[in-house]
Amino acid sequence: ESNLLKDIIAHAKEYGFVYPSSEIYDGLQAVYDYGPYGVELKNNLKRLWWESMTRLNDNIVGLDAAIFMHPTTWKASGHVDSFNDPMVDNKDSKKRYRADVLIEEKAAQYEQSGEVEKGKELLAAMGKLLDAEDFAALRDLMINEGITCPLSGTVNWTEIRQFNLMFSTQVGSVSEDSSTIYLRPETAQGIFVNFLNVQKTARMKVPFGIAQIGKAFRNEIVARQFIFRMREFEQMEMQYFVRPGTELEWYQRWADTRVKWHLALGIPEEKIRRHDHDKLAHYANAALDIEYQFPFGFKEVEGIHSRTDFDLKAHQDYSKKKQQYFDPEVNQNYVPYVIETSIGADRLFLMALCNAYVEEKSEDKIRTYLKFHPALAPVKAAILPLTKKDGLPEKGKEIFEQLKYDFNIIYEEAASIGKRYARQDLIGTPFCIAVDHQTLEDDTVTIRHRDSMVQERVAIAQLHGRLAAACSF
Ligand code: GAP
Repeated sequence: ESNLLKDIIAHAKEYGFVYPSSEIYDGLQAVYDYGPYGVELKNNLKRLWWESMTRLNDNIVGLDAAIFMHPTTWKASGHVDSFNDPMVDNKDSKKRYRADVLIEEKAAQYEQSGEVEKGKELLAAMGKLLDAEDFAALRDLMINEGITCPLSGTVNWTEIRQFNLMFSTQVGSVSEDSSTIYLRPETAQGIFVNFLNVQKTARMKVPFGIAQIGKAFRNEIVARQFIFRMREFEQMEMQYFVRPGTELEWYQRWADTRVKWHLALGIPEEKIRRHDHDKLAHYANAALDIEYQFPFGFKEVEGIHSRTDFDLKAHQDYSKKKQQYFDPEVNQNYVPYVIETSIGADRLFLMALCNAYVEEKSEDKIRTYLKFHPALAPVKAAILPLTKKDGLPEKGKEIFEQLKYDFNIIYEEAASIGKRYARQDLIGTPFCIAVDHQTLEDDTVTIRHRDSMVQERVAIAQLHGRLAAACSF
């Protein structure tokens, strides 16, 4: 892991953003908990996504489907048969790896050392073997490429086997008839199986969308890069149902809209790129990833997929219930096509955190702060009386009471003002509001801006409006 990522992980833990799960028991791989500032940031991101989907589009409505679904759902969606990763064990270290990830890392090494073509050829060769499910040849490819185990340093690989990523559990007590069900590996299927419920009850007309935020679970073997790849994570997915034949137009539109959304969060243009898939999943006729330049390279944050009518047709076949829409404009019944936008809330969180993390070096020290857009910042303002006497705390608390109903703010009177500023910088609070003796005379305060550290004098009466303007998009 890069040093920068290590610093960000340490910062996230130290300042109450993200902790390893069950840390007192030495943690649980690829599972994390969000602390007081982390949960605020994550909620802000989820709310912004939700509002930009359901409020800015009068033809997109929300849904909150259950994590458990009828087991046939996952037969129909293809997850039981093909949601697999190719796994390989090293005979010396006894460690298990994803073969495709090891090969991708080798290809990235080629690219970094200037042998771009060689890297591309390796990826293409891997793609062919994965498609053909020729795992013996895939293992030979690993050995020929001299791909060694990071732990033992040897190429002593076992055969490659397919490993399903879904978690399963039992419903019903063991003595009764129990049956195996899965924890959903994507939220999308809850939307597909409710397509007609929503369309009828909310009286939607194609084109329309259904948006959902919820937990998803995958038994990921490669647990690295912090919250980038987790076993329990949250997805924010939107399925947009369109008339067949119009899907590629909508696909382009959603790709553009989603890129703009990322830029609006304050992500610089050069750190965002689109990556069109050459190799499409069996259900898709177009797909791209929106990638962000993490400290470990450009990696997927969001996927935009043109999923055709694959899912609805499959559910129609398995359930024997028609999944059709009558389109009065063309006077026809059809199974709609679907454009999907799918983003992980945790990955979005990691992007926001990486993008905000600043280490400003001056001659004698380093100032670390998080430069979140005020709309994302966990705490919008800190009310800081200069001293603990002369009625300044009382005045500070009065301001706190005025603002607390509309903004997540904190009041703090311990430690020197400089220390309190520094602490707010570390959690990314955009504004520090200092209450001093002049405040008692003329009802003005000092606003100290996080990024520039510039201070300005503002009337208390203006604070609400100033915060509201800064915290909106
Ligand atoms: N319904 C489509 C779907 O699930 P995906 O590309 O497998 O597509 C979509 O996942 C998004 O979910 C990804 O772009 C990523 O942001 C997030 N995601 C997927 N697996 C994840 C994991 N193990 N940990 C965190 N986020 C994950």
